Amino acid sequence: MGNKEAFSTKGREAGIQPAEAVISTTDNSTKYELGRGLDVGTANLASAIQDSSGNVTIKIQRNAFIDIDADDYTRNMLTKLNVQYVVVNGRMVVVGDPAFELANIFNRETRRPMKDGVISPHEQDALPIEKLLLENLLGAPNAPEEVCYFSIPADPIDADFNVVYHKGLFSGLLKKMGYTPKHLVEGHAVVFAELANDDFTGIGISCGGGMFNICVAYKSIPALSFSTSRAGDWIDRNVAHVLGIKASRAAAIKEKGVNLLSPKNREEEAVEIYYRNLISYTLENIKKRFESASGMPAFPDPVEIACSGGTSMIGGFIEVFKQEFEAVKFPIPVKNIRLAEDPLFSVAKGCLVASLSDV
Ligand SMILES: Nc1ncnc2c1ncn2[C@@H]1O[C@H](COP(=O)(O)OP(=O)(O)OP(=O)(O)O)[C@@H](O)[C@H]1O
Ligand SMILES: [Mg+2]
Repeated sequence: MGNKEAFSTKGREAGIQPAEAVISTTDNSTKYELGRGLDVGTANLASAIQDSSGNVTIKIQRNAFIDIDADDYTRNMLTKLNVQYVVVNGRMVVVGDPAFELANIFNRETRRPMKDGVISPHEQDALPIEKLLLENLLGAPNAPEEVCYFSIPADPIDADFNVVYHKGLFSGLLKKMGYTPKHLVEGHAVVFAELANDDFTGIGISCGGGMFNICVAYKSIPALSFSTSRAGDWIDRNVAHVLGIKASRAAAIKEKGVNLLSPKNREEEAVEIYYRNLISYTLENIKKRFESASGMPAFPDPVEIACSGGTSMIGGFIEVFKQEFEAVKFPIPVKNIRLAEDPLFSVAKGCLVASLSDV
């Protein structure tokens, strides 16, 4: 059953040099700039920090957990596999990436502290789990009250919740850890991370697990931000439903290397069908919102659209996005549609940019 490496509880870590991502670890001898970025996502939590030479290190963990019977057999197995666990209310709990691996092995669903972009109303253990994951990803601040920008979703146009409670909870957790928490709308973080060469003018889209977050910005100021609640989880739920499988199994199929331009079997065809629907839904909504909003800036030049987030990482995403874009009469001229440099890390990087300029 699996190897130890797959169950590492350190999380995936990547130090990003300007040109490419390399695996590295944070250590005590490196000097870091003050200011952190934190992407609070439905599927993943990611932290970002910059060292004094300008290298950015990202840590990322699945925002998930699984609880297991606390018997001797399981305890021994987890110890052998080097999987860390904590005991919550008499149950053994594994958090982050190892929880996702274990769920797939046991054919179970992971439990998820967040749903549709915010803390889940159905998960009473959400808060202690998020605390554990944040401690794992951020550790203690490097100076008292170090600033940490964290991402929040923009108000949704197709769901009935607001982010006040969610924002307050994460603010409280970070404060208790010794940080000065500040929030940033997720799409705006994408603009900070991806549109520096365009004078921070254009459209940043974060294609996440629970939501799509969209921000239209003019010279770094958001002119329009909103979120929609169809995203990666929506694809998984629908694919699972039509194929009669578990949603986490559908996620695993989707993430394994599907190309939307050449689906190879029934499963991949289902993924493609829902992806196309999701992308055209998103474009139609940007169009509608743009046309109905008042006080929109006139964009004198065609703008860039940068897509980020895990859901944008599937093969053929940008090509399908461009095909669907052609079918919509988009309200502003667009010069290019492209994928973020590191789609999974964009929001954490954007939050880091905000923190570094704040400090
Ligand atoms: N290679 C891949 N191909 C397709 N989908 C992927 C891939 N890798 C990750 N995903 C999907 O991306 C989603 C997670 O993306 P991301 O980490 O950006 O979301 P999040 O920020 O946690 O969620 P949100 O912003 O909606 O709260 C999941 O639905 C996951 O299945
Ligand atoms: Mg996200």
